[in-house]
Amino acid sequence: MIDQNKIPCHIAIVMDGNGRWAKKRNLPHLAGHNAGMGAMKEIIKKSSALGVEHLTVYAFSTENWKRAADEVNGIFKLLVLYVDKELEELHENNVKVKILGDYRALPKFAVERIEKAVQRTQDNTGMQFNIALNYGGRDEVVRAVKDICEQIKDGSLLPEQVTEETISERLYTGKNFANVPDPDLVIRTSGEMRISNYLLWQSAYSEFVFTDVLWPDFTPLDLEKAIFEYQNRERRFGGR
Ligand code: IPE
Ligand code: IPE
Ligand code: MG
Repeated sequence: MIDQNKIPCHIAIVMDGNGRWAKKRNLPHLAGHNAGMGAMKEIIKKSSALGVEHLTVYAFSTENWKRAADEVNGIFKLLVLYVDKELEELHENNVKVKILGDYRALPKFAVERIEKAVQRTQDNTGMQFNIALNYGGRDEVVRAVKDICEQIKDGSLLPEQVTEETISERLYTGKNFANVPDPDLVIRTSGEMRISNYLLWQSAYSEFVFTDVLWPDFTPLDLEKAIFEYQNRERRFGGR
């Protein structure tokens, strides 16, 4: 079905619909997040097997702090549980874990375990698995702009030297950070057709695939369907 020679280099996913999945089953919201971790595990495996070079998942946005403290902490706990349980398997599969976002603002227990996962896998050469955690597209642009302003102030950069690259390299995906190319394909589950502050700068020319499937129900076959749809798009990048 899908063309093995045209696998997107970078797939970015907005894993949405955990709450609705739980609600449908009369379960607490966190049960949906827990089920979502299970879906994520399968999608990581499948992506790696397909030869995807970068998989980026939106795990927690800078706006998700607006949710109840119980839910927020529950999400972090589930994430840590996932990392603890799966770290060795990720490592064996040569997966390199990177974080996009201000994860240091998370509770200490989460920061420690996340850093452990990043360090443990840092020399791996297989798929790079980027977790967008306390990530916001606007937030990272603000951070980049502040950094540029500081450099202009101290004279190490001139305004006329500022290019797209000057901004790109200062984003979480930039050369000095996680070093991730722009996403080729952005998938959002659960029927919502918005970007919700995800990879705003980086998705300038990404292909978008939206599906009604709720994230915990999203299977490797759904991933293949999204890739198939991507492979049948014509990317023009503004050219003719
Ligand atoms: C997405 O699921 C996961 C996070 C935002 C952490 P939601 O919790 O947003 O699920 P819905 O949108 O309420 O169904
Ligand atoms: C986007 O989903 C963030 C993550 C999946 C982590 P949200 O559920 O937070 O987005 P909105 O509120 O529907 O835009
Ligand atoms: Mg949602």
